[in-house]
Parts: sequence; C-alpha cells; structure tokens
Amino acid sequence: MPIVSSHRRKVRFPKPPTPIATEKPKPKPKRRQISSGMASQESQEPRPGIPAVFTQPPLIRDPLVTETIDLQDATLEKCLPFLKGVHDKQSGPFNAYGVPTLNRDDHVAYLYDALEDYPSGFAMMDASRPWMVYWSLTGLFLMGEDPIQFRERVLATLRPMQNSTGGFGGGHGQLSHIAGSYAAVLALATVGGEDAFSMIDRHAMWQWLGRLKQVDGGFRVCEDGEEDVRGAYCVMAILTLLDLPVALPPTSKARKAGLENLTDGLAEYLSRCQTFEGGISGSPGVEAHGAYAYCALACLSLLGSPEEIIPRYMNVPLLVSWLSARQYAPEGGFSGRTNKLVDGCYSHWVGGCWPILQSALDGKPRGSDIPIETVGSLFSREGLTRYILGCCQSPFGGLRDKPGKNPDSYHTCYVLAGLSALQHYHYRTDTSSNKKFAGAFSWKSTPIRDGNVYERKDRLEPIHPLYGIPYPAADVMRLWCEAQPVMLV
Ligand code: FPP
Ligand code: ZN
Repeated sequence: MPIVSSHRRKVRFPKPPTPIATEKPKPKPKRRQISSGMASQESQEPRPGIPAVFTQPPLIRDPLVTETIDLQDATLEKCLPFLKGVHDKQSGPFNAYGVPTLNRDDHVAYLYDALEDYPSGFAMMDASRPWMVYWSLTGLFLMGEDPIQFRERVLATLRPMQNSTGGFGGGHGQLSHIAGSYAAVLALATVGGEDAFSMIDRHAMWQWLGRLKQVDGGFRVCEDGEEDVRGAYCVMAILTLLDLPVALPPTSKARKAGLENLTDGLAEYLSRCQTFEGGISGSPGVEAHGAYAYCALACLSLLGSPEEIIPRYMNVPLLVSWLSARQYAPEGGFSGRTNKLVDGCYSHWVGGCWPILQSALDGKPRGSDIPIETVGSLFSREGLTRYILGCCQSPFGGLRDKPGKNPDSYHTCYVLAGLSALQHYHYRTDTSSNKKFAGAFSWKSTPIRDGNVYERKDRLEPIHPLYGIPYPAADVMRLWCEAQPVMLV
C-alpha cells in the first residue's frame, strides 16, 4: 500500500464564524496605574535619603491583568507611602536615610500584654499556647528584656501540657504535637534553669519521637498526623537541645522496619523536598515555600556542617536563585512563594535562610573566633530594614504582616527575628565541645557595623540561627542534658 494515496480526497474545513457586524471587539483589560500612595500623600515627595528603587513601582511591569497581579498592585499602593516615609500613621522620628526609628517601648509593652489573659475571641489559639509563650519571650529577648523574670509563670503554664506518653500538646489535655513540643522546649530553654530542664520527661520524649519516625526518613507531626518538613526540623531541634539518644527506641515501628537511628534517611527526605523552582516544599512533590525552606536548611545544619551537608543534598545555585526572588522591590521585604505578597513574618523564615546559606558558602570554619565572610551579603539588608521599620510597625505597638493588617505576637516575634538576622553576621567556629552535633553548637555572631540604614539604638540582640533562642540558652540546656543521659530502653 502506498504511503501517499494517488488520488486526493477533498478535505472540507469548517468556515470560521462570521463576526456579527454590530459587535465591537472587547477592549483588553488594562493593568491599573499605581499611584504612589493615598490621595493626600500621593503628591508628596519621598523623604530625602531614600534611593528611588524603594519609592517607585518596578520599571518593568507585566501588562497582563490577573487577580494575583491586582493584589500585588494594591499591596504596592499601600506600602509606598510608608516606604517614602510620608504616611500620617508613621510617628518617626526618621533618620538621614529616611528610615523611621524602632518604637521599642511600644513593642515591648505589646508583648508584655500578649503574655496576659486573652478575650474569648482568641479561643482558636487554644492549641497554640506554647507558641504564644515562645513568641512573646523571644520578641522580648530580642528587644533586650530579660526572659528569666517569666520562669515560674512559663513553667506553670507548660507543665500541664506535657503528656506522660511524651511530648507537649498545644494546650491542656491535647494530643502531643511536634510544633507545640518544639515551642515548649524553646521556651523552657529561654527561661533556663534546672527546674525548667528537669520538668521535661526526656525519656518519654525520645520514645514519642521514635513513634513519629517514618520509614522514608521523615517524621509525622503527631501520631497518625501528616508527615512534613516541620516535623523533621522540630524533631532535630528537640533531639539536639535535649541531647536525646540518636538510636531509635526499640519499640519504634521504623526500627522494626530496618532503620537504626532517628536521623536515618532524613537528609535524603529533605533533598526530595527541593522543587523544580529551587525552593523547598513541605513534603515531596508540592509547592516550594519559604517557611519550609528555613525548616529544611536549619534541619540539615543540625544534622551536619552546613558547608558539607547543604551542597550534598540541595542544588545550591537554584536555591539561592529562588530565595533571591523572594525579595521584592520597592517593598524590600520577602514573600513566601512565587507570585505571592510580601509579608513581615518571612523576614525570619526567608531572612533566616541567608545566614545558614552564607555559612554553607563561606566554607569550613578556620579558627576559634575568626569571622570569615567570603561571599558578602546575599540579600539586600537595606531593603529588609526599610520594609520592617517602614511598613511593619503598627502605630500602637506590635509588628505586622504589612500595612493595613493588625499586629499579633507571631508577626511581632518573627519580624523582630528578621531585623536581628539582618543586623548580625552569624558564623561557625571549630570550637564546639559537642562532637555528636558540632554543626548545631558551633555558631557565633558579630554585629554588622558598615552600610546600615538604621540607628545603633535600634540594633537588636542576636539569636541562634538554627533554634531562634538566645545563643547561651542553647548551650546551657544541652550541657545540662548531656550530664543526665537518657536510658536506652
Ligand atoms: C502559607 O500561608 C504558609 C505555609 C504554606 C507555611 C506555613 C508554615 C510555617 C509558618 C512554618 C512552621 C514552622 C514550624 C517550625 C512549625 P499563606 O497562604 O497564608 O501565605 P502566603 O500567601 O504568604 O504563602
Ligand atoms: Zn505572615
């Protein structure tokens, strides 16, 4: 049979529909113009000292009109008067760079209040009680307050949330959850002291972590709950701070399935969470998000040295490119994922990835106390300073996601943590006395002194880049625990 038939059949193509003469073609929707602020502030010039990149809409704009693009334009319009330093809700004073001061006293008062009673409308926060303690303590510590003053109250609040089967629930009588347990352990480390450390049933905690371990290397967030990167990070934070045995408890199903250690297959699991974009998702195969990127990078750095373990399990150039795309201009703050909006809390979740990656790129520590910054700043510290101090300070105290949003203790803590991260250079030394987890306990920090656009009095305290607690708190808790080993039965 010939491949091409010798006699051609006539093929009839359907005619295109004739346009109705009276119907005019619809005009394409146009992307709206961005006015640089609310009507009264629209015409106002920015304060002196602010580069144009932080006061004008981006030069290149997509003409497409979508809901996402509309939301982005509306956000920009809300942020611009704050970035220009001309919004009537900004109290200042402003410095020579056009940046408002940190209203420290108002934020401190806000967090003291956040440790008191809540009205009934907060009932939905009942499963986040350890978190609410942690956010306030950490925010207050960052601003120079002493968390030890809260020790008795913190112990009394957290004690009933610990379950005899291991771990802490999010509130009294609730099932143990890894997120609440992480927040409780961090809060206890922060207030410190023998009463706080001995309150934790570390043996039961170890057994419970063994029940969360999955054969694919990851961890569930609670028994029969979902498995994700939060689980992995929180487990490693608890394991290293409490100096728990790395071996799986004999009762663990994962052990019966052939695994030996809580850490087995964990780095490989995290590696499977890096997506085609270069970011890191909550579990393999889903969308990359900045909060999970922090959890994964911090988790890897608790497992090993960042300069060895991160390049081994992550595509670093792709990750750096995705993380860089999280910082927007003119806002200067970070978004959590592609095509989403800037939000103050990512100052920590994304901002906290940078010191870890910086350490990975700086290479092996070469001394006991020598900061060796080989790659320079990986993000715009100036941009993030401008977003935090210009857009995230609520006029009555507390910090927020973005202008127009109310403050809360979660955003207050993580916006301040981001401000602290950009103000310090965190680096590793080779002096850790801990041989098991040297990556975790070998960090130091020094304030960044040059090129800052904030005042010296607005500098915050540094916190440990992997745990988010005061540096000494991590060492003191781990050393106390090391001296009381957990029985391997
Ligand atoms: C999306 O929220 C947010 C997520 C998918 C991640 C949330 C996770 C954390 C904040 C980290 C938890 C960490 C620990 C240690 C337990 P969204 O859709 O409201 O926000 P977006 O638009 O900014 O993505
Ligand atoms: Zn947020």
